Amino acid sequence: MRKGEKGILALIGILSVALVGHKIWQLSTEKKEVDRGIPFYSTASPQLGTAGSDLYRRLECKNCHSLWSVRDMSANVPAPALDGIGSLRDEQWFYTYFSAGNPQSILPSRLKKMYQMPSYAHLSEEERKVLASYMASLKVQDWYLEETKKAEFEKLTGKPYVAAGKVIQ
Ligand code: HEC
Repeated sequence: MRKGEKGILALIGILSVALVGHKIWQLSTEKKEVDRGIPFYSTASPQLGTAGSDLYRRLECKNCHSLWSVRDMSANVPAPALDGIGSLRDEQWFYTYFSAGNPQSILPSRLKKMYQMPSYAHLSEEERKVLASYMASLKVQDWYLEETKKAEFEKLTGKPYVAAGKVIQ
């Protein structure tokens, strides 16, 4: 084998080791991302989960809202997504909201009447309670909330997001 050939072989050897190493490193960092868990989850007991999603389906909330990424695409109503909504508001708030004769007195709306949140005051007290605690059980992971805030902040200001005195990378 000539000197030049040896050099090329050595180079190929080094490159392959580097490539494999890089791939392993990539896989291990990807794994870390997955381990952080899904962004949205529910703290509902199995009974509440079933009762809540039954009501949600029966009352056709998905005609307007998305939850677990499910929504009726044909309806096309710009209603807020309900994933993680229980991290934003509490059970008592939901109960009052669903019981209001005019929900827009609590949450003002700029939408046409046909798209606005309907009143659910006509439901039984039990049903409104189930809906309220089901909504309150829908949580968002802290890390996802932090990342969303960071992305929004940077999009709006073009500056790095600073939380509790330190820049989040
Ligand atoms: C006709 C469309 C429509 C239907 C059906 C509907 N909603 Fe809404 N909902 C809205 C809109 C739009 C808003 C935002 C406030 C507004 O514009 O009135 C809203 C607001 C809400 C909010 C407050 C969200 C926030 O940002 O705090 C909750 C909770 C909610 N709806 C839950 C439900 C549940 C549960 C059902 C089924 C029982 C339901 N909605 C059915 C359109 C709808």
